[in-house]
Amino acid sequence: MMRRIAVIASGRGSNFQAVIDAIQAGTIPACCVGLITDNPEAYAIVRAEKANIPVLVIDYRSFPSRDLYERALLSAMQQLDADLYVLAGYMRILGKGIVQAFSGKMVNIHPALLPSFTGLHAQRQAVEYGVKVAGCTVHFVDEHLDCGPIILQRCVPVLETDDEDSLAERILYEEHIAFPEAIRLFCEDRLTIVGRRVTIRR
Ligand code: GAR
Repeated sequence: MMRRIAVIASGRGSNFQAVIDAIQAGTIPACCVGLITDNPEAYAIVRAEKANIPVLVIDYRSFPSRDLYERALLSAMQQLDADLYVLAGYMRILGKGIVQAFSGKMVNIHPALLPSFTGLHAQRQAVEYGVKVAGCTVHFVDEHLDCGPIILQRCVPVLETDDEDSLAERILYEEHIAFPEAIRLFCEDRLTIVGRRVTIRR
């Protein structure tokens, strides 16, 4: 069955592109029904337009309060009526209302092996901490930051010569594999959330 996917992104959108490519290749049994962005300058918008995906810009700075922004975002998300909401480099913290409204139907990608290095600049945090292994995590979104049940993780070595940028690039390569894979598993109905754990039907 073809699923409806909505993507929410704030910037470059390379993970969004990986999802578009996997849909176009027939790997993910879904159609992308819309991109929502909080940033009118996001390059993700260009990627959506190239792929004929409708774009909804909900410009954070044009709202007088965070609450009103979140209400507009919630209603845009409801309007898209997706089976799955995909946070692909969405760089704000989602309010409780939105998280609860789409519980079990929203996934995020984070450039660290959670629960290590939540929040911003995860790759820099990893370099500064001195870990020898880093990576990325795809997880369901719950009301805590970078905390929901984990679907997939992929790891990379951290080299002594690494800085934030070189490590981020190595992790990003794995993100572009992990994210479409996790979304495919969701769309094929193969994921079950049991408490904090996600089981994958093989
Ligand atoms: C990705 O590395 C993603 O994991 C990260 O932002 C980047 C977005 O790149 N997300 C977070 O840090 C979320 N807390 P992209 O726009 O090219 O996909």
